[in-house]
Amino acid sequence: MVRPVTSGVVPEGLSTPSTLVIADRLERNLASMASFAATIRTALRPHAKTHKCVEIANKQMALGARGISVATVGEAEALTAGARSASAGSAVDDVFVCYPLWPAGDLVDRLSVLAERVRVRVGSDSPDAVERLSALAGRIGVMIEVDCGLGRSGVPPSGALAVARAAERCGLAVDGVFTFPGHGYRPGAAEAAAADEVAALDEAAGILNEQGFDGLERSGGSTPTARKSTAGGLTESRPGVYVFNDAQQVELGVAGFADVALVVAATVVSRPARGRIVLDSGSKVLGADRPAWSTGHGRLLDWPDARIVGLWEHHAVVSLDGPVPSLGEVVAVLPNHVCSAVNLVPEMLVVDDGHIVDAWPVAARGANR
Ligand SMILES: Cc1ncc(COP(=O)(O)O)c(C=O)c1O
Repeated sequence: MVRPVTSGVVPEGLSTPSTLVIADRLERNLASMASFAATIRTALRPHAKTHKCVEIANKQMALGARGISVATVGEAEALTAGARSASAGSAVDDVFVCYPLWPAGDLVDRLSVLAERVRVRVGSDSPDAVERLSALAGRIGVMIEVDCGLGRSGVPPSGALAVARAAERCGLAVDGVFTFPGHGYRPGAAEAAAADEVAALDEAAGILNEQGFDGLERSGGSTPTARKSTAGGLTESRPGVYVFNDAQQVELGVAGFADVALVVAATVVSRPARGRIVLDSGSKVLGADRPAWSTGHGRLLDWPDARIVGLWEHHAVVSLDGPVPSLGEVVAVLPNHVCSAVNLVPEMLVVDDGHIVDAWPVAARGANR
């Protein structure tokens, strides 16, 4: 019979489902990645799509991050509001949109406004996309995306030169190359993915160097690979999930249960059969991501043997043997993919020692363009 662990993170009397940030764990995760990056002399540019929150971005900046990474111009806008102004607001003054933007609609105008208040770099993987940015020459930098094995966006390293030449023709600065080693998101795959990312960035940067492009950034990173990096491999690292961790990181062995800093507090609303309980945290609050290798739709912080085996919009069906939480008990759920869970709520309640101490808006919630 497996006894439950008692973390004591969930405050009494909470309405559920509620998305909670566990303050001391968050601080620990932030500080530990900042210090790791400093040890290997790599600039940290955390991916803010995980938290979408000005308060957390400011903490990252205070711990020495050079700026933030984002996936969309909308995230950049939301997370830099008030930057460089005298009034309180974001402390972020440097943003990298690490996504192969297709500049159309209002995107160039919005990038132009953004570049007036913060330093801006954008990702690109084609001469055509770069040419559409030419109105921003002298005002933003281009980072060329290369594929290191994920098979998503990004040219092969040998294709970086054509993109760089297009930027040069338009008068746009080529600031460097970047990649995402997302094929490290499988059990046992992170080490090889980290090696692939360095190899692809080295190859692309080497080709560009030979053609006279110098001072190039080599930007990589994901949470599973971040700590596999060594000095001299990358110039910049972009992990995002590390701030909170989630069930995926636990099952990959990247984090332990005690490193998970975001949970969804959920009530046991039904115990319909032996070994089965039902929680009020469905896919509308946990998110529905489920990689093929995962053991279910999420985990329970204090019940390590429990698995969420079924997920509906407002029901999470949990399977576990032995003692089970009582009807009406509030448990802490680890979403599989924390970035998706954060994007589903307007604010995160901050808890410290079992008490709510703050509520942080998810400022860039839904900022998908
Ligand atoms: C381009 C890019 N960079 C960095 C990251 C951050 O990696 P992780 O989510 O593993 O922290 C992501 C995540 O999707 C990404 O797509």
